[in-house]
Order: sequence, then structure tokens, then C-alpha cells
Amino acid sequence: MDTMKALLERKSVRSYTGEPVTEKQQEQLLKAAYASPVSMGQYDSLVLTVVQNPKLLSLIDDTAAKRFGREKMLYGAPMLIIASVQLKGDASDNAAYSNAATVIENLNLAAVELDLGACHIWGALVAFADNDEVKEALKIDKGFTPVAGLVVGPTEDAYGDRDIPQNRIKTEILD
Ligand SMILES: Cc1cc2nc3c(=O)[nH]c(=O)nc-3n(C[C@H](O)[C@H](O)[C@H](O)COP(=O)(O)O)c2cc1C
Repeated sequence: MDTMKALLERKSVRSYTGEPVTEKQQEQLLKAAYASPVSMGQYDSLVLTVVQNPKLLSLIDDTAAKRFGREKMLYGAPMLIIASVQLKGDASDNAAYSNAATVIENLNLAAVELDLGACHIWGALVAFADNDEVKEALKIDKGFTPVAGLVVGPTEDAYGDRDIPQNRIKTEILD
């Protein structure tokens, strides 16, 4: 699949077969994450957490359900990859958020290439971003905040041509 095809066919997948992501697929996904650009090349300013343990996935789901009253915010996916960053409460946080989003989108496109379903996850992360107990269970250091994530896994939902509305993002093309 070429890059433009992957970009155009990518969509949020919210149903999963329950089968696991293979080690080889995980390796390819992480390769894509590590190829991501990061502000000023500061790769140590973020941390990725790969969650596959069903107990930990349930812990996140349950924490989100308690917080938002919504079940299955991870859609039963067998893997969640979380990007955590160090937030400082100043303008530099913009780069931190962008770094996390960029890495996660690289992962998303790699998932399309691997014919795996994937969906950005933000809501479920908010539910435990300030919960030290859950962060500890996920081995996320207290100084880091989970700000972006992606669920990934085998799906029966197929990628294909999509109708993408032109100009759905307001765009000013200046002379
Ligand atoms: C930063 C970000 C956070 C998102 N968080 C969630 C989420 O928590 N749960 C969810 O189901 N979808 C989430 N999405 C997916 C968007 O809802 C989706 O990309 C958008 O509606 C467009 O649909 P498409 O991805 O199928 O093109 C998120 C997307 C982005 C970029």
C-alpha cells in the first residue's frame, strides 16, 4: 500500500475480532513510531506504553466507565499504545502534545499498512491521567501525562475507498 492510499483509506475502526497483535506486527508498529519526527529531536521527552494485558486493558476501561459512564471506550481492542509526555504548564506543552499526536498518527498509518484496525484514543486516557494508582499499574512515571493513544488490533472492518469531503478543514490559500 502506498502512503497516499494508506492516508486516504485510514478510518477509525471501533470493532475488533479479539485476536492479538502479533509480535512481528508490534515490531513494525514500533518501527513506525520511532521513525516519527519529534520536536528538536528530543525523543526522551516522551514515553510509549504498549498495553496488551487484558487485566490492564480492563483497568483502563473500568476507570473510564466510572469517570464518563460509558462502557468499552477501548472497543475491545487487544492493544492500546499510549504516548505520555512531560507537561510544564507553559507554551512548550504545545510541542509535547504535537509530538505525542505525531507519533500516534505514524502508528495509525502503520496499522493501516498492516491491515490492522486502529483508532486514536483520547477520552479513556483523560480518565486516568491524574490517577496515580492506574499510572503506577501501567508503569507511567508520575512526571509524565498520558495525552494520546491508539487502540490496534485485527478487525473484520475493511479499508477501502472513502468519500472525503473537500475543504472540510477551513483552508485559506493566500496569494
Ligand atoms: C486526537 C484525537 C483523539 C481522538 N479520540 C478518540 C476517542 O477517544 N475515541 C474515539 O472513538 N475516537 C477518537 N478519535 C477519532 C475521531 O473521532 C475520528 O478521527 C474523527 O471522527 C474522524 O473519523 P475517521 O477517523 O473515521 O476519519 C480521536 C481522534 C483524534 C485525532
